Amino acid sequence: MQITVTVNGESHTRDVEPRLLLVHFLRNELGLTGTHWGCDTSNCGVCTVTLDGVPVKSCTVLAVMADGKQVGTVEGLEGPAGLDPVQQGFVQCHGLQCGFCTPGMMITARALLDKNPDPSESEIREAISGQLCRCTGYENIVRSVRWAAEHPAKEGADA
Ligand code: FES
Ligand code: FES
Repeated sequence: MQITVTVNGESHTRDVEPRLLLVHFLRNELGLTGTHWGCDTSNCGVCTVTLDGVPVKSCTVLAVMADGKQVGTVEGLEGPAGLDPVQQGFVQCHGLQCGFCTPGMMITARALLDKNPDPSESEIREAISGQLCRCTGYENIVRSVRWAAEHPAKEGADA
C-alpha cells in the first residue's frame, strides 16, 4: 500500500507492506532510529511516538494506520531555538544513564507538558507509567520533567 505520513513536519510517501509496524517504518524506511525498539509487546515504551499529538507505542501501530497523520519522534524535539526544555531537563537533572528508554520518556514528557504545563510529581509518574527504565530508578526522570515545566521557554542547551 502507498502511504503518506508526516513525520516531524516532513511528508514521506512510501509503498509498504500492510503488516509493517510503525516503529519499523520510522527506523528502517525513514532512518529515524531515535525511536527505539525493545520488547515488541507494548510493555517497555521505548518505541513511543506521538500520532496526531497523542503518545502511542509504535510497535502496536501499523504503518498504514499512520497514513495521512502526523507523527512526532524524538528527532523532532529540537527546534531552531535549540533543545526542547524536556531535553534540557534531562541534561540538567541527569535523567538518563544508558539512554535506551530516553526517547520514549522524552516524547511522553513533551506530550504531558503540552496538555498539562505544570504537572505534579504524581501526574508525571502517572504519565510515564507505561515507560520502563532499568537504570535510573525514575527519580531523576521525574526531576527532569519538573525542570522542563519550570523552564518552558526553549533556550540554548547550556542555558
Ligand atoms: Fe514497543 Fe516495547 S518496543 S512497547
Ligand atoms: Fe537505561 Fe532508562 S536510562 S533504561
